[in-house]
Amino acid sequence: MRLLIIGDLYGQIGAASQIAKSRGAKVMHVADIESGMNALRDGKGADLVMIEVREDIEKLVTLLMRERFNLPVIACGISSDKDAAVKAIKSGAKEYLPLPPDEELIAAVLEAITEENQSMIYASAAMAKVVAMADQIAPSDASVLITGESGTGKEVIARHIHKKI
Ligand SMILES: Nc1ncnc2c1ncn2[C@@H]1O[C@H](COP(=O)(O)OP(=O)(O)OP(=O)(O)O)[C@@H](O)[C@H]1O
Ligand SMILES: [Mg+2]
Repeated sequence: MRLLIIGDLYGQIGAASQIAKSRGAKVMHVADIESGMNALRDGKGADLVMIEVREDIEKLVTLLMRERFNLPVIACGISSDKDAAVKAIKSGAKEYLPLPPDEELIAAVLEAITEENQSMIYASAAMAKVVAMADQIAPSDASVLITGESGTGKEVIARHIHKKI
């Protein structure tokens, strides 16, 4: 799970990324939407975006869609700010995460997003071969070593194998 955080999350960035990291996420931090988009355009992949609720979430969601980055956006804000939360969801955010960050809540959000993206999407014959092999070994008790460059799908395949058991 690669997490892109936009903004300093009202000073809670340290706490939030530490929780995410302790749950196995890789965290990348940028100051604003433009820098976030540039990081994605540069191929620095992400599976999830967290952004301050006061940022222009509609703009971010529009840019992501326009450039075919299929990433869920989580708006983060001070817990009492209900209007901002509603506005964020209406602007296209998937979830609203209240700050300061709660360990269990962040874990639940990461898990929900992971689960949503769980069924594997592929078309190439090469990938079909990998999946066939994964399906074959999934029911066994053997340990599996999955190798590949960053972003090639090791975690996606690992989840697929675990789900198949
Ligand atoms: N359900 C899915 N079906 C197919 N591809 C997916 C799915 N979910 C995510 N991906 C793609 O898989 C890639 C990320 O895969 P994954 O996180 O497993 O990489 P990784 O090999 O673990 O990378 P790293 O070494 O950086 O941790 C992204 O390109 C993402 O778009
Ligand atoms: Mg990985």
